[in-house]
Amino acid sequence: MTSTATQRHIVCVVGARPNFMKIAPIMRAVAATEGLRATLVHTGQHYDAAMKASFFDQLHIPEPDVDLGVGSGSHTEQTANTMLRFEPVLDEHRPDAVLVVGDVNSTIACALVAVKKGIPIVHVEAGLRSGDRAMPEEINRILTDQISDVLFTTEHSALDNLVREGISEDKVVFAGNVMIDTLLYNLADAVPAADTRAAAADASESHSSAGDYGLLTLHRPSNVDDPDTLARLVAVLVEISAELPLVFPVHPRTRARLADAGLDAALAAAPITLLPPQGYREMLGLMREAKAVFTDSGGIQEETTALGVPCITLRESTERPITVEAGTNVVVGTDPSAIRAAWETVRDGHGKAGRQPEGWDGHAAERIVQALLTRL
Ligand code: UD1
Repeated sequence: MTSTATQRHIVCVVGARPNFMKIAPIMRAVAATEGLRATLVHTGQHYDAAMKASFFDQLHIPEPDVDLGVGSGSHTEQTANTMLRFEPVLDEHRPDAVLVVGDVNSTIACALVAVKKGIPIVHVEAGLRSGDRAMPEEINRILTDQISDVLFTTEHSALDNLVREGISEDKVVFAGNVMIDTLLYNLADAVPAADTRAAAADASESHSSAGDYGLLTLHRPSNVDDPDTLARLVAVLVEISAELPLVFPVHPRTRARLADAGLDAALAAAPITLLPPQGYREMLGLMREAKAVFTDSGGIQEETTALGVPCITLRESTERPITVEAGTNVVVGTDPSAIRAAWETVRDGHGKAGRQPEGWDGHAAERIVQALLTRL
């Protein structure tokens, strides 16, 4: 689309895996809108093919116009390097706004650069709060919201959180959930779970690849960085796998921690299929067909609610309470007996059926783009 004098220009930022699902429908909606154009910046926080490239391909996200190549490091290194590399991009492009999504280090880093330059910030997925400031994402959420000019929310509780923190209601727009835009858009192309499981069984020649299964993901620092917590979780999940074989796509950080803690052998001996990080369509198939999903992910709590699949969240809190109030989610923490009890409830056919939250209808990105046309 050619630029015109009246066309507004936004720089859209992505960095880590959960950002990719959120930006895809926004890029599509911007491309379909006369009055807006977008420049896509990837910070490079996630860079492995499995963590990045497969998502760009499967979700048809345009190649980033700019890749900052930041990579891994301590939180300070990652945030500071992102800021240093993002500043010249804003100097060159001089956009009308910077749009950031979610709560990863790339989100706060780029928002902070923009605010210092007086460039308006648009935050998609604003106002979520776990109440747990030990989570790096909670700090990123609070700070990003404080400096944002337009805040799009996915559930109504977010507005209360923002107002409590002194943010003016005028800046907040209820948009619904762009993550669910992506889910609904791609559902017909989900890879059947049997295919993903069969490919894994072929590769490892180990576990059976048919029948009921549970899906497991774990990557939160609070769960995987502490060897005692990790060992406790592995023990109860191994126990549950005797009743329900588990499929476990392993995040790179978790793979390293499991090896450090010497827990790989216990997992390998159980009916637990370990997989590398999966593509979006493979995950969608695995989630949709699972009997239960055990996770500490934020996005998966939402996706299982949208799919109507029981979700057992291995955390003490959730920033997404609508998944518990309306959806299929139960937040059980890391106590083995609580995890086991939650599984037994699902096993015995009493898992939550759930209903679809408002605005999780596949059109959130379109609402966001329409609101931006009037607000920028
Ligand atoms: C980040 C986000 C988290 C999100 C998660 C999804 C922050 C604070 N956290 O956590 O909110 O849920 O992404 O995955 O931003 N690594 C690779 N290849 C990659 C990327 C990472 O091997 O492409 C390894 C590196 O060893 C790295 C570690 O994973 O040190 C952690 O990566 P990092 O981006 O720091 O945080 P995540 O745990 O992925």
